[in-house]
Amino acid sequence: MWLPSTVAAELHNRNLPLNRIRLQDDSIHVWLAHTDRLPSESRLASALTASEYARAENFRFPHDRTRFLRRREFLRGVLARYTGVVPDRLRFDCSEYGRPFLLGLDAVESVSFSTSHSDGLAAVCVGRSPLVGIDIEKEVDTVCLADEASMVLTPAEIAAVEQQADAVRPGVFLRFWTCKEAIVKAIGRGLSLPLDEIEIVDIESDCPRVCRIAEEYGPSSQWRLRRFTPAPGYAGAIAVKAESMEIEFRTWSPEDHVLACVSSDNCYSH
Ligand SMILES: CC(C)(COP(=O)(O)OP(=O)(O)OC[C@H]1O[C@@H](n2cnc3c(N)ncnc32)[C@H](O)[C@@H]1OP(=O)(O)O)[C@@H](O)C(=O)NCCC(=O)NCCS
Repeated sequence: MWLPSTVAAELHNRNLPLNRIRLQDDSIHVWLAHTDRLPSESRLASALTASEYARAENFRFPHDRTRFLRRREFLRGVLARYTGVVPDRLRFDCSEYGRPFLLGLDAVESVSFSTSHSDGLAAVCVGRSPLVGIDIEKEVDTVCLADEASMVLTPAEIAAVEQQADAVRPGVFLRFWTCKEAIVKAIGRGLSLPLDEIEIVDIESDCPRVCRIAEEYGPSSQWRLRRFTPAPGYAGAIAVKAESMEIEFRTWSPEDHVLACVSSDNCYSH
């Protein structure tokens, strides 16, 4: 395998994997990126398809278009590392409810993934379980209205929020919200699945528990939740239906962004 010496040295110095990243069955890798800090000129931009550029055009404001494009580049860059397929050859489709998935890969190459973004922060979560979901939200985005709470929370969850001091209630509501969104994204139904049909307990814990979920997605004991702080001022949650989960958090840097195509071109084979 030939690599330009500067790139090889950079990969070596930064300890970037020359080979695909392998995932154990219970591993979940969560990549986080500040999309506003990613370079606007990188070879990943040429990996995007006409339909991704067309989707970007649907955003009214230029900075939202740019953020969308950087997120797609980030997603392709991350998935290239796991699939061994260069970013511009990755193909996507989505389910009737909008859940994206990779097309045309066999079971060895393919991975499940889920994405989320809030303000300038983006997250990609990669795993082997087909039912994996992530949600991140900026805290200022949350309003804890009584009406909203009754559509999202069960009576027991509303009681858990109401027993908190006023100042912390929005934060507790957001914990329930992110956990539930992560679950409905893992299932692939998104908000078409009523959030108040899922009940969560131990919301203060890093690993809250699902105590009620529709039978077709259960049993509830098979669901794993993990809350995390993706960045100061943000809340996040990961949900997976699996016996166990081992989570690793990784930061996607501007250098990863620049190197993603180069390392893929030279190191991955398909
Ligand atoms: C999926 C959903 C919960 C995302 O909520 P959000 O907090 O606004 O956005 P996030 O940034 O966390 O997630 C967006 C990502 O979720 C993924 N996604 C979209 N629909 C999904 C679904 N049904 N299941 C899993 N993931 C989904 C996509 O990757 C999307 O990224 P993209 O827009 O850049 O392609 C919500 O948009 C949804 O339910 N969409 C489906 C449409 C629907 O059922 N609408 C009913 C409205 S009541």
